Amino acid sequence: MQTESPPPSTPRHAKSASEVAVRLTKLSRERAWNVYTDIAWPEALSGERYCMAPELMSVWGTEYWDTLTEEQRLRLSLYECANFFSLTLQGERPLVAGLSDRLYSKRVTPEGTEYLHHFLDEENKHMVMFGMFLNRYVGKVYPEKKVALERTYAKGEEEVMFFCKALVVEELGDYYNIKMMNDARLEPIARELNDVHHRDESRHIAFGRLHLSELSAHWLEQWDDEVRTRVQTWLAQYLKASWADFYNPSMYRDAGLPDAFKLRTAVMAHPASALLRNTASAKLVRLFVDCGLLTEVPAL
Ligand SMILES: [Fe+2]
Ligand SMILES: [Fe+2]
Repeated sequence: MQTESPPPSTPRHAKSASEVAVRLTKLSRERAWNVYTDIAWPEALSGERYCMAPELMSVWGTEYWDTLTEEQRLRLSLYECANFFSLTLQGERPLVAGLSDRLYSKRVTPEGTEYLHHFLDEENKHMVMFGMFLNRYVGKVYPEKKVALERTYAKGEEEVMFFCKALVVEELGDYYNIKMMNDARLEPIARELNDVHHRDESRHIAFGRLHLSELSAHWLEQWDDEVRTRVQTWLAQYLKASWADFYNPSMYRDAGLPDAFKLRTAVMAHPASALLRNTASAKLVRLFVDCGLLTEVPAL
């Protein structure tokens, strides 16, 4: 009788985040790249290709999509891409600050600190790269929408929240990056940025998933019911708020579409956009549920 080997997600001898960090550090050094010399920036975009894959655009699958001319769709794709790159960049700013805060602290192991140096370096380069695209071809970076409220935290609460936020921006972004990095319909520079980003993000995500699993296993059993419920409620809300940012009324306005707010509300409520949100979040939500950070799959 043949014995079944375990699936790749459940290795017989699971490695710790610290052990994986050693391998990731080596990979980051081997695959180091230069944001100023490795990307060939065209003078201008052709305007004849998409910057965002149509299936990933917020209006895809809705009746509204059918009313747009090809020219309007192309124009909207530039601003949807601008919003996506801005969201990524705005998520990377507090990520870099938080990573820097954790270097040489007791919150990570020495191997973890060594890897965080690369994590931080790569995120800084991503911000430079997305900022260059946005300033050159769009003339702006869309501002941050999330407001951080001052409050007190239970021990470990802020730590768990920080790595949850990191994974939300990275995993949702990576879903889009992977879908677009080989898409021949896209402007080559948009394709390239998705590709470059995905290569570093696959390592960040590998570390983040393991580190968050260890953190949540440690803290969830120490917290009382009140703190546990507070973190679970916050995370479900945070995921919803992160998705809401994908429907930025400014991008509709900048693309010249009328009634930007009404459009946003209608598109967000459409089953086609809910399907994209749930599909793109599935892997991430499964991790949060497995870790006990969510009690159920939230309606996104
Ligand atoms: Fe990044
Ligand atoms: Fe990252």
